[in-house]
Amino acid sequence: MTSARVLDPHDASAIAEAAAALKAGALVSFPTETVYGLGADAANARAVARIYSAKGRPSFNPLIAHLADMDAARQQGTFNEVASALADRFWPGPLTLVVPRKDTSTVSDLATAGLDSVALRVPDNAVAHALLSAFGGPVVAPSANRSGYVSATTAQHVAGDLGEAVSIILDAGPTGIGIESTVIDCTADMARILRPGAVTREAVRNAIGDKLAQESGENSGIIAPGMLASHYAPNARVRLNATDVQAGEAAITFNAFQPAGIENASSVFDLSPTGDLEEAAANLFTALRELDTAGSIAVCPVPCDGLGEAINDRLRRAAAPRDS
Ligand code: TXA
Ligand code: MG
Repeated sequence: MTSARVLDPHDASAIAEAAAALKAGALVSFPTETVYGLGADAANARAVARIYSAKGRPSFNPLIAHLADMDAARQQGTFNEVASALADRFWPGPLTLVVPRKDTSTVSDLATAGLDSVALRVPDNAVAHALLSAFGGPVVAPSANRSGYVSATTAQHVAGDLGEAVSIILDAGPTGIGIESTVIDCTADMARILRPGAVTREAVRNAIGDKLAQESGENSGIIAPGMLASHYAPNARVRLNATDVQAGEAAITFNAFQPAGIENASSVFDLSPTGDLEEAAANLFTALRELDTAGSIAVCPVPCDGLGEAINDRLRRAAAPRDS
């Protein structure tokens, strides 16, 4: 196989070429406001199968269908009151809604892993929007990284992880937010957060009040299959809530925190020297990738409020015991 063609999405023909590649069943990586996606025509099961094999992803793990706008989303799924309120408030944006799948949905069974629900998202990124509009149908896209590995926030990450399997990468520079969308189950009257993400729990609560279930999906027994304990895992061992650095370890710090023994660190990445959680989210996956050649990464505490919930969720999964 040849490696991916990296195109500048501002070139006049790039979006049309990428849409044509999707139509032909090829994989196209495109930026969203959260992370880079590995896109395929949602209606084409063979194209969807290519995503699973490119990522090495367990095929029971369903994908998010990306749409250009709310009208396109309504063709795929049924929006109850709470889903409509969330879509009105946060779309386009870093929020994924799991809703009952419509009979008329064109998303293939492989992409939904045979569930009777479908995960929908209208991203807030000009390149993603242009591609989705030009393509004219749902595009399923997981984060463009090998399954279980750190998510991709630059075109270089995508090329390094998946280059051979992708036909086109639309390179629009680093993604703005850097952490994935919040996934909310809206298949019942009460909404449930299945995966914390770029839209904070507080923001969701402000939008829908007591229609947000207290417990997360994990505690309620509802499982987003992507919530496997070990996920976002670099090759290095990850040690959480570190207050010291051991000889030879790399360190991830926050807010200019100086752990004991920092002079022993093989390298140090401060997620945000000023303690800004948005900056920390944007840097998280780049930090894990950059320090990945160290045998072990000591991660100093990051506060849990606001975007810190999603950051700590990803860090816990990066540190979880691996199967192999
Ligand atoms: O920001 C994002 O969400 C990025 C960009 C590319 O849009 N995408 C992303 O996709 O993170 P992925 O495949 O890495 O994560 C999708 C999550 C998984 O946790 C998956 O299990 C969950 O959404 N999911 C998808 N369909 C579902 C469904 N029908 N029911 C429950 N969970 C679902
Ligand atoms: Mg992912």
